[in-house]
Amino acid sequence: MTEDQFLPTETYSSQLEGSVSVQSPSNIALVKYWGKYGDQLPKNASISFTLSNCRTKTTLKYKPKSSENAVFEVYLDKTLAPDFKPKIEQFFARIERYIPLVKEYDFIIETTNSFPHSSGIASSASGMSALAMCMMELEQKLLSKPISNEDALQKASFLARLGSGSAARSIEGPLVVWGEHSKIEGSSNLVGTQYPYEVHPFFQDYQDTILLVETGEKQVSSTVGHNLMHDHPFSEQRFQQANDNLSKLISILKEGTIEAFINIVESEALSLHAMMMTSNPYFILMKPNTLEIINRIWKYRRETGSNVCFTLDAGANVHVLYPKKEKDTVLAFIKEELAIFCMDGSFIEDQTGMGATLL
Ligand code: DP6
Repeated sequence: MTEDQFLPTETYSSQLEGSVSVQSPSNIALVKYWGKYGDQLPKNASISFTLSNCRTKTTLKYKPKSSENAVFEVYLDKTLAPDFKPKIEQFFARIERYIPLVKEYDFIIETTNSFPHSSGIASSASGMSALAMCMMELEQKLLSKPISNEDALQKASFLARLGSGSAARSIEGPLVVWGEHSKIEGSSNLVGTQYPYEVHPFFQDYQDTILLVETGEKQVSSTVGHNLMHDHPFSEQRFQQANDNLSKLISILKEGTIEAFINIVESEALSLHAMMMTSNPYFILMKPNTLEIINRIWKYRRETGSNVCFTLDAGANVHVLYPKKEKDTVLAFIKEELAIFCMDGSFIEDQTGMGATLL
């Protein structure tokens, strides 16, 4: 796969005015992406569960540009959100070579999230994948010969990656790999691809209850964190560790060996945060309640033999992962013992899902 294959196949034959709406979910990485190079290319391969309830709905209103330079406005929850503009401007600049309509149309982007913005739940993953899907949908309307559905999904993931790396993994589901990996056929640094091998029924309909420890703005953005991996003393070992963990997951996912799954998933979460603590400048995104929750999950697992485990994104919130058959008992445990460590007792019940959809 090369970048050139995503260049436009023809000049647009028509000019349209209208709107397109998409909803796209967040995802939770089991093996984490932390460190990038070039044009949003990952330093190691990662794999995630695509989520279902944590999602962004985006409506893209488009009309042919009315002046020399195309313009756009962004609304979050019906309120003008100028803070989002720089990130989207950068996204447009990165994708215009591949989808020139961004220079030819004026846009109004209306977006809403089903979860708190910038809470460490990857709102950039759902937001950028939703916008990329909208753009792709519009391009398909403008082409006299639209590309196949499969190619359109691949290009949407390619575009989404240029907005936010992890967004490449939100177009499809339920398990998506991003980043070239020698043992995973079809894996690529350019796009997210569906995990191609057998997955034990144990991992189907996996549950993710997200405990909202902190819902404000993060102190350090993911982009800054990724950049700190450039001169990081442990970066090479970390990239190797992630790729090795993904190799190990192949047989774990096939055989349903849950203890080994838990070991890798929790180790990945703590390794990610260890990278933050050992970069320079160093920083800590976990909060005391994050650690309290982790310790209680370990205790609960020891005492009950449950298969519940945790993972973390670049934030203080805790993703509690468990098989569907434990839903009632784990939710009762969360309500009784963990919710007190969440902001206003709040958590989001989610599970694996199938990716972005047109509305
Ligand atoms: C910790 O995809 O948000 O969630 O490419 O700079 O937008 P950018 O970073 P982003 O990084 C997310 C990293 C992570 C781990 C993961 O999802 O793999």
